[in-house]
Amino acid sequence: MHVIAPSILSANFAKLGEEVQNVIASGADWIHFDVMDNHYVPNLTIGPLVCEAIRPLTTAPIDVHLMVKPVDRIVPDFAKAGADIITFHPEGSEHVDRTLGLIRDSGCQAGLVFNPATPLAHMDWVMDKLDVVLLMSVNPGFGGQSFIPATLSKLKEARAKIDAYTERSGRTIRLEVDGGVKVDNIAEIARAGADAFVAGSAVYGAGKDSDPQRYNSVIAALRAELAKA
Ligand code: DX5
Ligand code: ZN
Repeated sequence: MHVIAPSILSANFAKLGEEVQNVIASGADWIHFDVMDNHYVPNLTIGPLVCEAIRPLTTAPIDVHLMVKPVDRIVPDFAKAGADIITFHPEGSEHVDRTLGLIRDSGCQAGLVFNPATPLAHMDWVMDKLDVVLLMSVNPGFGGQSFIPATLSKLKEARAKIDAYTERSGRTIRLEVDGGVKVDNIAEIARAGADAFVAGSAVYGAGKDSDPQRYNSVIAALRAELAKA
């Protein structure tokens, strides 16, 4: 099944609760929650308090993408705040295997995030602890950037590693992509092997602010493209 995960980075923060409910009512699957620390990435966003505040508003999984360094100290706070999935960048942790264990021990699904220039080799020896592999198709820090085309071959490589692992272990790992995903490229991205799609500006930039159903048509258009993939 294909997962659509709108990033609330591009939502209207003055009405965040409504924005979360609206996008799920419009057919989205996960809430993608971008955490930036003005240290690992050059931007500052939201933390566990905001996760806790939106948690009662939806039963949809909250997919916390940590763009922070160091990672470990903040993991239990997000687990307590109701995160379902926590992903982090290997560059943000001194001990990647330990951080993955910490996330899983906190009761969340765990994932590694690969920047455009970060090699996939980081996943090879921790497959048993991965629930999600997330490939960045832009440099992390900002919404609204363009999809980096080299991500397509990297997705194919990640898909091959995951399929080989699933074959030998019986466990599946989600392959998520984040950055510059739009209606006009999502089918090609799916064909390269992704099965979970973060879309920030493409979703939250759609429609008129006053329309409570404003996200229905863009999410339907993304799904229609995925059906062709
Ligand atoms: C970038 C974030 C992304 C971003 C995606 O650092 O991780 O989730 O918000 O936004 P779009 O879809 O606008 O590229
Ligand atoms: Zn993200």
